[in-house]
Amino acid sequence: MKTVRSSLVLGVSVLLFASAGFAGEGPDVITLPASKGVIAFPHWKHQTLLKDDCSKCHPGDPGKITELGKEWGHKTCRGCHQNETIDSKKGPTVCFGCHKRPE
Ligand code: HEC
Ligand code: HEC
Ligand code: HEC
Repeated sequence: MKTVRSSLVLGVSVLLFASAGFAGEGPDVITLPASKGVIAFPHWKHQTLLKDDCSKCHPGDPGKITELGKEWGHKTCRGCHQNETIDSKKGPTVCFGCHKRPE
């Protein structure tokens, strides 16, 4: 239930972003399963934050990512959170910043 609720909260903030007039197409929040705990990935928030630079995560055309998995995720997602600051913001680097604790 916790995951569902936080997705809803993210969904609402995503709607606010959308109505602020950002262009582009892409999913809202994507659920990525992982044994360490499911990840509620705020996709729309990221694509907006990264100014529609899809190539930060999509090696080719935006869509399914065949490389998706622990190695890719920790290199791509955690790598940016550790090394890059965007609009003076940084993403979470601790495990449970991404993986939700199983209930
Ligand atoms: C910060 C990383 C990141 C950025 C930036 C990003 N995406 Fe994604 N996107 C993902 C991940 C992770 C998935 C899930 C891939 C999978 O399930 O194989 C995904 C999936 C998608 C999907 C497929 C959804 C589905 O379930 O079939 C589309 C379409 C998509 N992205 C479009 C875009 C577009 C368009 C942009 C640029 C405007 C973009 N993405 C930018 C990470 C990103
Ligand atoms: C920035 C976000 C992020 C952080 C922080 C993070 N991970 Fe991950 N992790 C991911 C992504 C993305 C995947 C790939 C999920 C998928 O393929 O569905 C993943 C996958 C995994 C997997 C593989 C799960 C499976 O079922 O195969 C394990 C285990 C894991 N992470 C453990 C950890 C541990 C331990 C930490 C803390 C030291 C951590 N993660 C921190 C994003 C993160
Ligand atoms: C190029 C940089 C970059 C990449 C790649 C990236 N992130 Fe982030 N992420 C950020 C930044 C910056 C924030 C902080 C946003 C904020 O504070 O508003 C963030 C925030 C987050 C949050 C916190 C949720 C929130 O609403 O603030 C999660 C969870 C997250 N990222 C997961 C991921 C996952 C999973 C991936 C890979 C599929 C990923 N990120 C890829 C930069 C990135």
